[in-house]
Amino acid sequence: MSNLPRPTPMTAHPSPALQGHARPPGDKSISHRALIFGALAVGRTTIDGLLEGEDVLNTARSLRLLGADIQKSGPPGEWVIEGVGVGGFREPDQVLDHGNSGTGVRLMMGAVATTPIAATFTGDASLNRRPMGRVLEPLSLFGTSTLGRAGQLLPLTLQGVQARRPAEFTMTVPSAQVKSAFLLAALNAPGRSRLIEREATRDHTEKMLKAFGADVSVALDSDGRSVIDLVGQPELRPRHVVVPADPSSAAFIVVAALLTPGSKVTISNVLMSPTRSGLYATLQEMGARLTIRDLREEGGEPIGTIDAEYSDLTAIRVPADRAPSMIDEYPILSIAAANAIGRMRMEGLAELRVKESDRLAAVEAGLTAIGVRCAADKDTLEVNGCGPGAVPGGGLVRTQMDHRIAMAFLIAGLSARAAVPVDDTSMIATSFPEFVPLMRRLGARIEAAPA
Ligand code: S3P
Repeated sequence: MSNLPRPTPMTAHPSPALQGHARPPGDKSISHRALIFGALAVGRTTIDGLLEGEDVLNTARSLRLLGADIQKSGPPGEWVIEGVGVGGFREPDQVLDHGNSGTGVRLMMGAVATTPIAATFTGDASLNRRPMGRVLEPLSLFGTSTLGRAGQLLPLTLQGVQARRPAEFTMTVPSAQVKSAFLLAALNAPGRSRLIEREATRDHTEKMLKAFGADVSVALDSDGRSVIDLVGQPELRPRHVVVPADPSSAAFIVVAALLTPGSKVTISNVLMSPTRSGLYATLQEMGARLTIRDLREEGGEPIGTIDAEYSDLTAIRVPADRAPSMIDEYPILSIAAANAIGRMRMEGLAELRVKESDRLAAVEAGLTAIGVRCAADKDTLEVNGCGPGAVPGGGLVRTQMDHRIAMAFLIAGLSARAAVPVDDTSMIATSFPEFVPLMRRLGARIEAAPA
């Protein structure tokens, strides 16, 4: 929520081998979407494995203010939703506060854009700095109007419309949030809307539209672009959604095992969508002893079991076209690079500048603080690997309200020569509330540190 939590500094210390079986939480992207589609279906949707992190809980709160009945039904991760149907949202009598979550606010703006109600959206200091124009532009094609701070920043009031016609939009930034906002708005517009995507991004929205019974098709055009057609105003059918473990959260555990001598860790039921698994391919190219087994499909998504063992890593070049499939993983990949042999180059990273923090700047400052030489320009990061176990550590890392910066640098501390203190870990609760206890159970020495 917008009130800043008290900073929670922590320090990660050089640790013994990490051993065991880990269960990271449910996938954040799928969790947001399961709640939103459940709220837009007619009848009762049940969810198993929902991520109960702050980002997702804020989406649940907004959906309740819009009229959906959303309850936790008992054991962790089990939720029940009574949906209001496409077009059934009522005008909320409070501001919709999405805290730290770009996905939550952007998808929800799309979901209300073609219902004739007014809604005001806000977030925390990080979210209120992030660009919303990329979503407002496609929503305006349906006739939706918005009044935001400095034009396109939160807090922002959106006036939804009774859309009279479908819309067509070609994406200019590779963003699943933009794609999803457009498709959610198109759901309540009459006729066939079309979205064209040049670079493939995560496809959970398209898959869930299909699973909930919408008439949606995805085809490649002669230029290799994805063309997504959606027929508006369907009656969505409720269903049971099983949320697989989040590969972006599993990434921290995997890299910790690769870097901490003697480690061997297994993680099961991890989402293995090709739109999300770029980090794993990259680590394997770096020489990681990392295997993915028991690949199968559950709820329309591929899932698998990951085994990761301590490994010597070699620096490689990561091409720009891989960025959309691992966009959230560069902070933790930069920690792997810091422990590799050679100079690692990661390209096509401009989008990192507009995440929960300016992640390129935050990674560069963090690596510098722990004694790793690196250089970032507008969309590239180069890291001079120190070699296995040779990161000096020591300096204070500033997390800039970014959960992934906090987790990445705590992992760095487990195999560095000296401990790594991190100024604030409170934001980890947005995506991985169990991170610290889970890592401690595997053997990690992460301790509370004085502010
Ligand atoms: C997400 C899309 C990505 C990603 C974010 C989750 C989603 O953002 O960084 O954590 O669930 O659609 P962009 O759409 O801005 O690339």
